[in-house]
Amino acid sequence: MAAPAAAPELGTAELGTAELGTEELGTEEVRVTTTVETATTTPVAIGAPRGGPDVPTLRKDGWWVEPAITATVLLAFVAYSTWAAFVGNNYYAGPDLHRDLISPFYSPCIANSCVPGSHAFGTLPFWNYSPALLILIFPLGFRLTCYYYRKAYYRSFWLSPPACAVSDAHRSYSGETRFPLILQNIHRYFFWILLLFNCVLTYDAIIAFRQPGYRIGISVGTVVLCANAAFLWLYSLSCHACRHFCGGQVRSFAKHPTRHKLWKFVTPLNAHHMRFAWISLFGVALCDLYVRLVASGTIHDPGFHF
Ligand code: FES
Repeated sequence: MAAPAAAPELGTAELGTAELGTEELGTEEVRVTTTVETATTTPVAIGAPRGGPDVPTLRKDGWWVEPAITATVLLAFVAYSTWAAFVGNNYYAGPDLHRDLISPFYSPCIANSCVPGSHAFGTLPFWNYSPALLILIFPLGFRLTCYYYRKAYYRSFWLSPPACAVSDAHRSYSGETRFPLILQNIHRYFFWILLLFNCVLTYDAIIAFRQPGYRIGISVGTVVLCANAAFLWLYSLSCHACRHFCGGQVRSFAKHPTRHKLWKFVTPLNAHHMRFAWISLFGVALCDLYVRLVASGTIHDPGFHF
């Protein structure tokens, strides 16, 4: 009988006990495992086939759960925001309800079709379609090119790769160095535009304390708009491009004390960027929904006035 192959040693650096397969040697079955010591590296080159083991993955856990949830939530948001942008009504709860609440999907409302009271920044006379269609390209472009969301949708929609240590669904890898993905670089410019949007939504939140007919007051709608503006600021200020603007390409912080202070302020926020990305995404959709329900008369906006 042939001598069985020596079983690999399972040291502390072992990659789990995932089996690559079993081999029958005579009457004995030998388990073949991959360890750090036996793993080989595969060079990655732009445009070249991707490497890795010849099995989709060695992981035995539920690695597919996170990309599946991500895809579901993002699809739900896209579906809701598309409907809300095209529907073109119930985006403003105005003086007839003693409120001054505008949906973040429609602010700044600068279309000719804006309902009276909702356009504090002037109107463009040539646009008679839904006001949201005029402005949503900027916040959507900002999120679409966000470093975190890129990771999220590359994994959940393109399966590229779907998770750590799971093989890519595509045969080759081209990175973000070519059209169209090279356009992701415009994220840094969207960042500055979004700061303007944040200023507008902060103005909306302050104006929401105005209750026509009662002077000023606080309602659930006021709190919702304030929370939405706060989370959008946290999302924007935790942006990787923002952190780079504050402290990037500085050889000596001692010579740039202001930039050092800014960098120290945004760095802890940056560590929570993923959290702020999700909270602000839910926040903006829920804020639109709340204003919509109040404006349509479906619910009453509880509050008090002075
Ligand atoms: Fe996410 Fe800039 S990296 S908003």
